[in-house]
Amino acid sequence: MSIAEKFVAMEYGPAPEDPKEALAWLDRHQRHFGFFIDGIWQPPAAGQYFDTFDPSTGDRLASVAQGDAADVDAAVRAARAASAKWRALATHARARYLYALARLVQKHSRLLAVLETLDNGKPIRESRDIDIPLVARHFYYHAGWAQLIEREFPEHEPCGVVGQIIPWNFPLLMLAWKIAPALATGNTVVLKPAEFTPLTALMFAELCQEAGLPAGVVNLVTGDGSTGELLVKHPDVDKIAFTGSTEVGRAIRESTAASHKRLSLELGGKSPFIIFEDADLDSAVEGLVDGIWFNQGQVCCAGSRLLMQESIAEPLIAKIRDRMSTLRIGPPLDKAIDIGAIVARVQLERIQRMVAQGVAEGASCWQPQTSLPSKGFYFPPTLLSNVHPTSIVAQQEIFGPVLAAMTFRTPREAVDLANNTVYGLASCVWSENINVALHVAAQLKAGVVWVNCTNLFDAACGFGGYRESGYGREGGREGLLEYMEPKWFRHAPKLTSNSVENFSVPTGSPTRTLSEQDAQASPTIDRTVKLYIGGKQARPDSGYSMEVRSPDGRLLGEAPLGNRKDIRNAVEAAHKANGWAKATAHTRAQILYYCAENLAQRRHEVARRLGQAVGEKQAELEVEIGIQRIFSYAAWADKFDGAVHNPPFRNIAIAMNEAIGTVGVICPADAPLLGFFSLVMPLLAMGNTVITIPSERYPLIAGDLYQLFDTSDLPGGTVNIVTGYVSQLLKPLAEHDDVDAIWCYGDEATVATAKAMSTGNLKQVWTNEGRAIDWFDAKLAEGRWFLEHATQVKNIWVPYGE
Ligand code: NAI
Repeated sequence: MSIAEKFVAMEYGPAPEDPKEALAWLDRHQRHFGFFIDGIWQPPAAGQYFDTFDPSTGDRLASVAQGDAADVDAAVRAARAASAKWRALATHARARYLYALARLVQKHSRLLAVLETLDNGKPIRESRDIDIPLVARHFYYHAGWAQLIEREFPEHEPCGVVGQIIPWNFPLLMLAWKIAPALATGNTVVLKPAEFTPLTALMFAELCQEAGLPAGVVNLVTGDGSTGELLVKHPDVDKIAFTGSTEVGRAIRESTAASHKRLSLELGGKSPFIIFEDADLDSAVEGLVDGIWFNQGQVCCAGSRLLMQESIAEPLIAKIRDRMSTLRIGPPLDKAIDIGAIVARVQLERIQRMVAQGVAEGASCWQPQTSLPSKGFYFPPTLLSNVHPTSIVAQQEIFGPVLAAMTFRTPREAVDLANNTVYGLASCVWSENINVALHVAAQLKAGVVWVNCTNLFDAACGFGGYRESGYGREGGREGLLEYMEPKWFRHAPKLTSNSVENFSVPTGSPTRTLSEQDAQASPTIDRTVKLYIGGKQARPDSGYSMEVRSPDGRLLGEAPLGNRKDIRNAVEAAHKANGWAKATAHTRAQILYYCAENLAQRRHEVARRLGQAVGEKQAELEVEIGIQRIFSYAAWADKFDGAVHNPPFRNIAIAMNEAIGTVGVICPADAPLLGFFSLVMPLLAMGNTVITIPSERYPLIAGDLYQLFDTSDLPGGTVNIVTGYVSQLLKPLAEHDDVDAIWCYGDEATVATAKAMSTGNLKQVWTNEGRAIDWFDAKLAEGRWFLEHATQVKNIWVPYGE
């Protein structure tokens, strides 16, 4: 072809990156890898290996060890042995190691990028310009945190030994997201890379050696899901951090329920990509290319659901098709390739299957005329239009280069459609009207909102999901909290008494019906309280009550025996009261102050009644400190601010602390009033609505509480109180899909039950881990730690400049 002809055709020639160095590195290891445990390479105990392949050719790259129980145990033991010294190391020394790792990643960036592309199939342009630079950025950023950690978090300490399990879509980047914050905060690590893509992790092990990282601080055990499961179940692991499918995330939640392992989950998504009619359509289409065709769409936060305003749907679809026709699909080592190979045959087949099902459900499928390489696993960029919002391709994660398009008419409809998913990882809003964009951003239930941009990531900006996309954040200040705990909490004694010993009635055996009791009411019965649902006193569905007795056996009154139906009513009321989250923080503060004021006015009568159950001295303390506690959270309501991050792009990222939503609260038995306020007030201050099960020991507190709320202008449904036995009420509460989180303060068995039953919609669970909490000590029992659990961070990225 002559130069003149080339100018006319504007065809790309092949521009392959040379894999020579990467292949030489594999050869230096005889294409055979053991584990990296205790600073050295170790063979698998059972001698089992599996192969890893280049998905663009199907060629074998290397054999990698398959970890079994003995291997995982050896790695955990090495991490435990290294733990004390690593956490005691001067923060500056830890910072220097992380800095060294950042520098080494930069030094070997080309080799790492080529190795990543060989193993994963992603275009070299992406591994070279996005993955590996972000890996280095993550280690730099966390080297900074390692330096500052003691000064910034003086009351915290590391979890200890952390088990980390990562997926195959961003192999080295996910490793960095996991290892950098864990090391910066003083933890030691056992990491299991994904079975399809272990190679860059193994090369990272060499970088650890080169950096002189103390033996055992980072350990790598390769293997498949069974190796991951062994790590999750290992008794000497203090925390599990997982990124991968929602299904496995759920299994991990279940299998860690009975342990005290901390857990963070970064799971799937079905992120909406919303384009309004006033958007810059050409920019939006470019954004879409990054949103769904980046990394072949194998991205947890891929903008896989296109929501177009109806008025622009036709021209927009035409533009998208034109742009899709120019996407180049082919060997990922070619520097001019946009779409590389799918990671493995099984994933390719999954994409094919889901697209076929979407078409069978009525979607129209469009793909550009393009020829796929004859070898390897490829899938063309695909546009599915006329997709019904309930179709499998609109609801389930495809994890491939497939866009499902739908239309909307109004901003409100856009928000409804966008939130019509069990997930909540990310979202995009395109509009030239900043008011519309930010108004919509505020209403989206997602951990990240990109306004007029897409798929931007930075170590300073926390990343993570709402709802079934998981919990916990990676990156930013909030990401560090996943790897630390308050010192006092870690050393708090085991809770010894959460029993119902003060009840004359054994758990589960109701005494009499309320109507009988009404009829036989005698002067010895001091009080009969009701349930409090939707701002009204309500009789229990069961018609039964439970006797409440003082420690010396005197009958103090009767409390209704709530059941599943009462919980359902309470959840519905709490759900409807979502105006509370939209009230200004100032309004919330005022109402809480008002609660404190009203309690202060009734302090003597409340203390007198409470004193019958917990003794005079404790009752007086509970009331006095309770007033202070409410005051504290009224004060916090407008002060627990978010942040504005400055990522290294022309963007600001606004990190908002948002309410979680509807929260179920199991109150501690021993401090009926103060325990209630200590848990409910931080949730209210941050805009959550709650369903509470008050102290089993003294549920009569409900009567004082609803009088307090009724007289303090708290909107009906914001707080709902269902008295009864935790053993009966916890299950319907934890299993309810409209409950977004559970706070459970009880003994070990109750706490484990709360975790195990919350897996349905993967609600966040926060507990006392069966430990005793001194509610009377404000230093421990109130403040940021509670507020952090009462909120989730949403990062809204806003670009600036022309
Ligand atoms: P997966 O969730 O099975 O694998 C992710 C990691 O978890 C791998 O390291 C795997 O070995 C490990 N693992 C698997 N089972 C385990 C268990 N029981 N206990 C502990 N660890 C376990 O994901 P998979 O099968 O690779 O992909 C299936 C689908 O999951 C994808 O099509 C996609 O929809 C989704 N996915 C989402 C990711 C995300 O970033 N959110 C990443 C990878 C997959």
